Amino acid sequence: MTGSAMSFKDRVVLVTGAFRGIGRAIAAAFAEEQARVIINDIGTEDELSGMLLKPPFNNGQTRTMQADVGDSGAVDRMFEEIESTYGRLDVLVNNAGIIRRGSVETVTEQEWDDVIRINLKGTFNCSKAAARLMIRQKSGKIINISSIAGKTGDITSAPGYGPSKAAIDALTKTFARQLAAHGINVNGVAPHAIETDMSAEWSEEKRKAIIEAIPLKKLGQPEDVAAAALFLASDKAGFITGEILDVNGGFLMDYPRISMVICIQANMSSLTPINTV
Ligand SMILES: NC(=O)c1ccc[n+]([C@@H]2O[C@H](COP(=O)([O-])OP(=O)(O)OC[C@H]3O[C@@H](n4cnc5c(N)ncnc54)[C@H](O)[C@@H]3O)[C@@H](O)[C@H]2O)c1
Repeated sequence: MTGSAMSFKDRVVLVTGAFRGIGRAIAAAFAEEQARVIINDIGTEDELSGMLLKPPFNNGQTRTMQADVGDSGAVDRMFEEIESTYGRLDVLVNNAGIIRRGSVETVTEQEWDDVIRINLKGTFNCSKAAARLMIRQKSGKIINISSIAGKTGDITSAPGYGPSKAAIDALTKTFARQLAAHGINVNGVAPHAIETDMSAEWSEEKRKAIIEAIPLKKLGQPEDVAAAALFLASDKAGFITGEILDVNGGFLMDYPRISMVICIQANMSSLTPINTV
C-alpha cells in the first residue's frame, strides 16, 4: 500500500515500547507514511533521542517521550505533553510489553505483578488517557499488540504472560464497545513467533520446532506486525472494531484448531500447539 493509500500524513501517532523490536518497526512504518510519530519507551532520554539521528526518524517530525506505561502518573504526564504539543492524538499503538520465562512452580509474585502491570495495566493506562483526547476530537484508533498466547496459553513463559494478553483482548473489545459511539476504533494484533530480542533467547532446537509448526515455514518479522497495525489504524479499516488480527504464519486457524484437537485425541503429537510467545 502506498503512502497516499494509507493517508497518515501529519497524523499524530504514539507507539509505546518503540525503542526496539516490533514497536520500533511500527514507529518506523508510520514515520515512512509521514505521520508525526511519538516514540515512547522506558530507556533514558539520551538513548531514546539517539534514535532521532537515523532514518526514518530524522525527519524533524518524530519525537521521543520517556515513560513507564505501567505508572499511571507517568502516563498522565506524557499525555499532558502530547496535548500541549499537538492538541490531539490520532493513533495509539499499545506495544510495550515484557515476558518472563518460567513455570507455575517457579513463578514469583513479583514476576506476576511486573507482567500484569506493564502488559495489561500499561495498555489500560494509555488507552484511558488517549480516549479522553479522542472522545473530544470524535475520532481515533487504538491498536493493542496482544499475542497468540492470549488465546492458547503458553508452555514456556511465566504464567502471567498469556493471561495478560487474554485480558488485553477483552480490554480491546470492552474499549471498542464503549468508544464506538465516539467514532473511535479499537483493535488488536496477535502475533506469534516474530524475530525480536524477545525471541532471540530461543535455542536452535526450539527455533526449528517453532518454524516446523508454522504452515508458512518461517518466522515473522517486526514489519509483518507493523503492516497489520498500519492497516487497522488506517481509514481503510474504518468498519473494523473489536477485532484481534492474527499474524502468525497460519499457526493458529479456526479449522486447524479443530483438526489439532482431533490429532491430539488420535495421539498425533506433531500438531500440538507448543512454544508460543
Ligand atoms: N516477539 C514476538 O514473537 C512476540 C509475539 C507475540 C507478541 N509480542 C508482543 O509484541 C510486543 C513487542 O514485543 P517485542 O518482541 O518487540 O519485545 P522487545 O522486548 O524487543 O521490545 C519491547 C519494548 O518495550 C519496552 N518496554 C518494556 N517495558 C516498558 C514500560 N514499562 N514502558 C514503556 N516501554 C517498555 C522495552 O524497553 C522494549 O523497547 C510485546 O507486547 C509482546 O508481548 C511479541
